[in-house]
Amino acid sequence: EIIHVLLTGGVGSRLWPLSRKSRPKQYIDLFRGYSLFELSVKRNSDLTTKLNVVGNVDNNELSQKSLAKLGKIGYSNIIEATPRNTAPAIAFAAFTAHPEDILLVTPADHIIKEGEEYTLAVERAVQLAKDGFIATFGIQPEKPETGYGYIEHEDEDVIAFHEKPDLATAIEFLEKGNFLWNSGMFCFKAGVFLEELKKYEPEVFARAMEAWFQNNDGKLDLNDSMKIPSISVDYAVMERSDKMKVVASSFEWSDMGSFDAIYDYLSEQGHPKDENGNMVIGSEKFTAFVGMQDSIFVCTSDANLVLSKEHSQDVKKVYSQLETLD
Ligand code: GDD
Ligand code: MG
Repeated sequence: EIIHVLLTGGVGSRLWPLSRKSRPKQYIDLFRGYSLFELSVKRNSDLTTKLNVVGNVDNNELSQKSLAKLGKIGYSNIIEATPRNTAPAIAFAAFTAHPEDILLVTPADHIIKEGEEYTLAVERAVQLAKDGFIATFGIQPEKPETGYGYIEHEDEDVIAFHEKPDLATAIEFLEKGNFLWNSGMFCFKAGVFLEELKKYEPEVFARAMEAWFQNNDGKLDLNDSMKIPSISVDYAVMERSDKMKVVASSFEWSDMGSFDAIYDYLSEQGHPKDENGNMVIGSEKFTAFVGMQDSIFVCTSDANLVLSKEHSQDVKKVYSQLETLD
């Protein structure tokens, strides 16, 4: 089997107020009637034979609603009691699979242009996974972004994987040239992943396994889950494994993590801006900007946000101040 493991555990704090605890960004119908969650289900359904959604108690209902909307049946569902980051989340999916099954792990919150490029990249990654490797998807970097992982490579061989470097290091990587952004998607055999996790993070492996074998119909127990160290798959496995490969991919990819990315995406789609680059998101009302440049006005039914595009990363501060609200 080739199983699409869809990770949908994040909250998206940099997209407040579009993204809320009660309605994380991957469920918002921002993209021609579909949410990012729905688009990633659709994009991968012809490339895989099964779907396994790994989410949490707070967003399970939203996932179910989206899957019903798509008419999806026969998928499996893992419901985390609390987020322990991506290494445990992927381990749960791997425990449910046969060791020889191929897992195509994707986030639920990216924009990717589906089409031949994407299909070819996935097919190549599946082949590498069948050969026992851990395949990553490398994207040509456009700027020294510090929120991504970088893959130092020579063709398909990975020299080293560097998760979230500081700015000076990221600038160096771009100058050197043989570095790609890690797209956050992975492809490997379930058994290979679990061996590597056990090898490099035995505690995470053991605690995740204990928690998983106590699950109730895919639902994890909170006490068992709290014992699992919280660590991302990038630090736990990708930076350390010697089974890494990279498929350099030319499909259009964007991590819709913050408003600058949404702004750029919507601009490309022809969403209106005024002559000073100001944009309104979420309202049809006529809106005037005076003396402002490259700013974004975000309008939702119960909260508004005005920000300058270059401060998009700071929105998470507002979110953490308001966390008690919703
Ligand atoms: N089920 C579940 N449980 N999903 C989770 C959890 C969890 O505890 N934590 C995160 N996720 C989901 C998020 O919703 C997202 O879809 C995906 O896993 C990746 O997590 P992020 O928290 O968004 O990771 P990141 O953006 O900091 O970094 C990763 O993605 C970058 C590209 O966007 C890394 O893989 C980087 O190397 C990569 O460049
Ligand atoms: Mg992310």
